[in-house]
Amino acid sequence: MANVAILKIDGKDYELPIIEGSEKERAIDITKLRAQTGYITIDSGYLNTGACTSAITFLDGEKGILRYRGIPIEQLAAKSTFTEVAYLLIYGKLPSDVELKKWNESLTKHTLIHEDLKRLFHGFPKDGHPMAIMSCMMVSLSTYYQDSYDPLNPEHREISMIRLLAKFPTIAAFAYKKSIGQPIIHPINKLDYCSNFLNMMFSVPAEEYEIDPVIVEALNLLLILHADHEQNCSTSTVRLVGSSLANLYSAIAAGICALWGPRHGGANQEVLEMLTYIHESGQKVSKMVEQAKDKNSSFRLSGFGHRVYKNFDPRAKIIKGAADKVLSKLGIKDPLLDIAKELEEVALNDPYFKERNLYPNVDFYSGIIYRALGIPTNMFTVMFAMGRLPGWIGQWKEMIEDPGLKIGRPRQIYTGATDTDYDTAKKGK
Ligand code: SDX
Repeated sequence: MANVAILKIDGKDYELPIIEGSEKERAIDITKLRAQTGYITIDSGYLNTGACTSAITFLDGEKGILRYRGIPIEQLAAKSTFTEVAYLLIYGKLPSDVELKKWNESLTKHTLIHEDLKRLFHGFPKDGHPMAIMSCMMVSLSTYYQDSYDPLNPEHREISMIRLLAKFPTIAAFAYKKSIGQPIIHPINKLDYCSNFLNMMFSVPAEEYEIDPVIVEALNLLLILHADHEQNCSTSTVRLVGSSLANLYSAIAAGICALWGPRHGGANQEVLEMLTYIHESGQKVSKMVEQAKDKNSSFRLSGFGHRVYKNFDPRAKIIKGAADKVLSKLGIKDPLLDIAKELEEVALNDPYFKERNLYPNVDFYSGIIYRALGIPTNMFTVMFAMGRLPGWIGQWKEMIEDPGLKIGRPRQIYTGATDTDYDTAKKGK
């Protein structure tokens, strides 16, 4: 197979190298294109443009394959825990039992936040969206660690990664408690990562909180499924911000803001609101599907479609199966699950969705389980961010440790006014 591409411009041939990845994906390397030809490429939304090579996550959108460091998501979902997957994504291998114990201990040791940082919660309105709070708190964390957040210092990288992973659940739970006027519950070191979060979210000082292993297992599963997804919108944001050598806290804060968008991680909240609307309004599912097809309506079927998956999102399949299992184990009958299944059925048999390869994505069923776990709807995207955090960190670390790291700075093709004289412009000519 050719290892160069020939580009013919104005009768002249230019050779461009072709690179091939470990999964036989091939790319034309245009690093020297502008120097050689004076031309750049343009690709709005980067549909066809690779920003980097990466050894962390592989996905095949056509075949519905997703692997973290080569391990299929189905196996990790069935056998691993979230903190083990976090280690895998960040350090490139599954930890030994000793390494995992040490990793969990180091996360546990950093779950508390500075007492002064707690005061920041009082500056937000009680109905402030928790994604805004999480982004603000992540970058505010950096003000307490100004002596240890240099991205080029390996020790600083290590402690920043641990602090973010350890404190994210604490801050998320504190934000929730503040929003409902309950006292904040501090981390308990004897609890594992997911149990600690559930305890901080749902226990109250007045009584014992029974940690349900079914809920802990479901939370581990959801966080694993959200942990990384190669160069999606928010991960690309983390990489771009990190490429300026801004500290990791600020890159993560930016990633949280990108994830918040309804076309990205914000979709899980939108799905629940859509299903609730259908349930409460008695609106026919078929009507919603018709509305989603209507070009004059901005409404899209949230949780459907994907930039890369043009087949079933493998995560959606796993979550759909888990939804049935978790709800029946918890003895919950949720009409929204039945509506979701009906919506999927109608859409998947509709030519509009079939022609466009629009399938349920990770956000379509996740909210059903979060709801069953007692997580409030406006916290769903925070849960997505909690899951994605190790992926963002792993991708950032891979970029920062690349000796060839350059600041990210895309080009453009200018289409505005050509050279204009001020006085002429002033006269509005
Ligand atoms: C995530 O990139 C990642 O990896 C993201 C993610 C991750 O793990 O990080 O997987 C997580 O963000 C999942 C996606 C969550 N978003 C949603 O569920 C929102 C609803 N989905 C759409 O907005 C849309 O599908 C996107 C944004 C997800 C993808 O859009 P694309 O690939 O840019 O496709 P497009 O917008 O160009 O749409 C192609 C066609 C259009 O119609 P035509 O112009 O061909 O007539 O499909 C239509 C769109 O109108 N379309 C939809 C639709 N999604 C696309 N029509 C109705 N409902 C939808 N959901």
